[in-house]
Amino acid sequence: MIRLVVFDAYGTLFDVYSVSALAETLFPGQGQALSVLWREKQIEYSRLISLSDPLNPLGSRHYQSFWDLTRLGLQYACQRLNLELTPAKQKQLMDQYAHLEAFPENGAVLEALKALGMTSAILSNGSPDMLQAAVSSAGMTGLIDKVLSVDEVRQYKTSPQSYGLVADHYKLDIREVLFVSSNSWDALGATWFGFKSFWVNRQGLPFETLGPRPTYSGRSLRDILPLL
Ligand code: LAC
Repeated sequence: MIRLVVFDAYGTLFDVYSVSALAETLFPGQGQALSVLWREKQIEYSRLISLSDPLNPLGSRHYQSFWDLTRLGLQYACQRLNLELTPAKQKQLMDQYAHLEAFPENGAVLEALKALGMTSAILSNGSPDMLQAAVSSAGMTGLIDKVLSVDEVRQYKTSPQSYGLVADHYKLDIREVLFVSSNSWDALGATWFGFKSFWVNRQGLPFETLGPRPTYSGRSLRDILPLL
């Protein structure tokens, strides 16, 4: 029985590669490569920090917000691709990141969950202000019960402390939570933690060879609806 649906944000509700069109305008021929490397570095830095920091948030020494890691990832990706990132270009790309496009089916799926009486939340690496901007610019404010940021525990996914925020905020058995992510590593982390997991595989990719496989998977966010 599922009593709460928790969505990952970046990649799942918001299309992180929607910045590639602007990146292509700013750096012709390199937009796709830049957006992929940018994302890889952003996530790599989040893991590096959480592996190196103690678990107590008060003792964290290396923690920086996801917004800062997003900017640092962009700077690295440009250096690696030999692209000149002027302050104006950086501002344009970061502004775009703050208002990423939502995937087209999201609104209808969130409405359908609400009509079923199901509670929806977000658990994301994103900093609180970044998430609020993304949720409100996608028109999702009234559809999401709580927007949880790992910033509260200063530990990025896939640390158990990050997923544990859901259990801190909702008094539920974690097996009653359906955690939905398009990021296969996040679906795996959520499965390890003990949630029921749903991997949204929009691109038809293979799942990680490191298992177990997610509880469920599908090609679109819509595919969660028959489970509820
Ligand atoms: C997030 C990253 C993983 O939103 O996309 O948490």
